Amino acid sequence: MKILAIDTSCDETAVAVCENDRLLSNVISSQVRFHKEFGGVVPSLAKRKHQELIDGIIEIALKRAGITIENIDAFAVTKGPGLAPALEVGIAKAKELSLKHSKPLIPVNHMEGHIYSCLAKNSQGNPDFNYSFPVFVVLISGGHTELVLMKNHGEYEIVGKTLDDAIGECFDKVGRMLDLGYPAGPVLEKIAENGDENFFELPIAMKQSKDANMSYSGLKTAAMQLIGVEKSKIESWNSQTIANIAASFQKAAVDQLLLKINYGLTELKTQNLEFKTILVGGGVSQNKYLRKKLKTKFGKEFSIHYPSDKKLYTDNAGMIAVAAYFNALSGKILKEEQDIESVDREPNWSLA
Ligand code: KG4
Ligand code: ZN
Repeated sequence: MKILAIDTSCDETAVAVCENDRLLSNVISSQVRFHKEFGGVVPSLAKRKHQELIDGIIEIALKRAGITIENIDAFAVTKGPGLAPALEVGIAKAKELSLKHSKPLIPVNHMEGHIYSCLAKNSQGNPDFNYSFPVFVVLISGGHTELVLMKNHGEYEIVGKTLDDAIGECFDKVGRMLDLGYPAGPVLEKIAENGDENFFELPIAMKQSKDANMSYSGLKTAAMQLIGVEKSKIESWNSQTIANIAASFQKAAVDQLLLKINYGLTELKTQNLEFKTILVGGGVSQNKYLRKKLKTKFGKEFSIHYPSDKKLYTDNAGMIAVAAYFNALSGKILKEEQDIESVDREPNWSLA
């Protein structure tokens, strides 16, 4: 089954083509340079840029896949969660194509896409690893921080999530105060390599809570206060201090996540759910410090998988295409014209 998928949930205009779970193309046009000077994504600007770019990106995705639109068997689109004005653009285009070419439409949850980013294969069918359900999923991005129990394809339960800021957003905001630009996560990680992670003590929130939920706003505030205090000590405000703050912050952010993953896994075990596989997706999962800690803590008991291609970490449509394929297999595919026409954005659509 050949699927053309569109994702315009945030600030990437993304189109991909897959054949079953193999990606034939995965094209992303990032608008990050337009939003940079605002320090975050501006929804109305994102919408305008998506409108300008979408047709061209579809053309490139088809060309790279080496097929014409007439050979597409179904269209797929991110229905939510995401920014309402941005989502609208992709949904309108997918509906238009689906009706014009008389092919079904598969609406996909963006977070489900991030899960499938770990299971997407390249055009050669790699990587090809075995997994069996249930699977434990860690989704960490600029917009989301969720621990998910995946019981089967399309069957999810939220085990825990952030009650306020997402972990990536926290990296970005703290990084911005350190003048690291936007998005600051990768730069902060790099700078932290030269820092002492035990130099400053930053709080780990929700340590005592008897659940797998997280909170990152307290850490953000504490880190910002620390930066304010250290910046005022003009004589000692230097690159080493910045590195120490970055490292101490990163440690606290990652430690909370590890603590809650551990809590979630332990809790599920008491329900007699046996896991062998952990999938980790979303932009923040590129963080090498986090990966090392995950491996040390959980690597003996679990096989840990990440997306196999750089493009699959950020927002992309390849993950939406593969999720759509598995949705189609379980009958979540719209064939009737009126069903297709009634598809609408769901900015807060939960996985569960
Ligand atoms: O998944 P993503 O591309 O977009 C969504 O938010 O959906 O994630 C982007 C987020 C940004 O907050 C960025 O700073 C963060 O992922 N990020 C990182 C790293 N690389 C990207 N955070 C920490 N360390 C990294 N190496
Ligand atoms: Zn995303």
